Amino acid sequence: MIDPTARCPQWLIDRIGDNGGSISFYKYMDLVLNDPENGFYSTGKLNIGNNGDFCTSPSLSNDFARLLAIQVVDWLLDLEKSGIDSELFSIIEIGPGEGTLLRDLIAAIAEIAPALTNKIELILVELNEGMRRRQKKIVNNVDGINYRWSNIDDLILSPVTGVVIANEVLDAFPVERLVFCNNNVFRQGVSLKKINNEYFLELIDLKPTSEIIKFLKESNSLLKIDFPPKDICNRWVTEWHCDLPSWFRKLSKVLINGSLLVVDYAMESKRYYNAMRKDGTLISYRNQEANSNFLKDAGLCDLTAHLCIESTINYALTNGWKFMGETRQGQALLALGLSNFLYSLQKTSSNDLSAALNRRESLLRLVDPMGLGDFRWLAFQKDNSDNLLFGNRFLEEPIS
Ligand SMILES: C[S@@+](CC[C@H](N)C(=O)[O-])C[C@H]1O[C@@H](n2cnc3c(N)ncnc32)[C@H](O)[C@@H]1O
Repeated sequence: MIDPTARCPQWLIDRIGDNGGSISFYKYMDLVLNDPENGFYSTGKLNIGNNGDFCTSPSLSNDFARLLAIQVVDWLLDLEKSGIDSELFSIIEIGPGEGTLLRDLIAAIAEIAPALTNKIELILVELNEGMRRRQKKIVNNVDGINYRWSNIDDLILSPVTGVVIANEVLDAFPVERLVFCNNNVFRQGVSLKKINNEYFLELIDLKPTSEIIKFLKESNSLLKIDFPPKDICNRWVTEWHCDLPSWFRKLSKVLINGSLLVVDYAMESKRYYNAMRKDGTLISYRNQEANSNFLKDAGLCDLTAHLCIESTINYALTNGWKFMGETRQGQALLALGLSNFLYSLQKTSSNDLSAALNRRESLLRLVDPMGLGDFRWLAFQKDNSDNLLFGNRFLEEPIS
């Protein structure tokens, strides 16, 4: 049955038409987010933040960056202590959104470890031109620090030492959707349906690719569970982040020595690939509203799919990285001292009460177990030296 809200915009009719009338879901997600002229991110029309389409941790307040800076400074000092010979340390952000995280991070590092700032350069790796335009407005106002935009392929040609941050970006990588039906597996696709001179989008079943078949064959060792799960219903649907192996492989060539922090929506394979989760994890966001109808308002919404923790770690391990550990964001930020920020608000004078209440609310949202606090922090290291030992304060027991 056709969903009457899934009207297809003309540009997407053209793209699907060019492809013979149907495309894979993977291609659909890539187009609606990253099509150079019409994608949600590439046009740069979206807004991240309380008054925008969705909130990310750095968009709530600079407290996220101030806490993260404590860990980033530790990692950079660990690189120095290990005697790694590098004139510059790079802080690379993949998918920097509005650019606020890097701006606030550098301000916080200047407070915690001013001597380090002369040694730091910021590198923004942003796929979409529209987002790069937005980032320029923010980052061009950061004084006294070297910064540049680059891409992973160029960075591979002149690798760097430092820290890579990927905050809420891997969930926006296009995913394959797999449909299990009568003991067969299909690749989910999207096609056009014309009704009364109007085009609508509808989901279809396509033949699985050889990569999908390989993923299913390897799934047992990759996911550490029996897959597909027992007792799934007919037309059970799930997702596969098929671009992660090559992303980890390429990124490992960008860093000579350093750490990588991935922060994202993620869950264990037994929760992810569970018979009860019959529609996968894919969600669309627009104007702060989550919607499971991801064919609605194509190109005007964010689409996001959770990461599977075991497969993400496995893909990193088999592509040049060592795993340092993972925890929930709430736990990580408390370990980095979030409760001290909360206590300090008790000393607020009555004149600043409204600002203090707003800050308190943002801090609580960052650790809310039903919201951002449930995000996962996964840390990896890349080394070309036996001496390199990173401390991970974010994994320690929270201080009270
Ligand atoms: C949800 S936003 C996250 C923004 C930011 N990290 C934050 O926390 O506020 C995703 C960002 O990643 C960018 N992006 C998506 N895919 C990317 C890729 N493959 N490489 C680099 N950037 C990408 C998008 O254009 C957007 O700027």
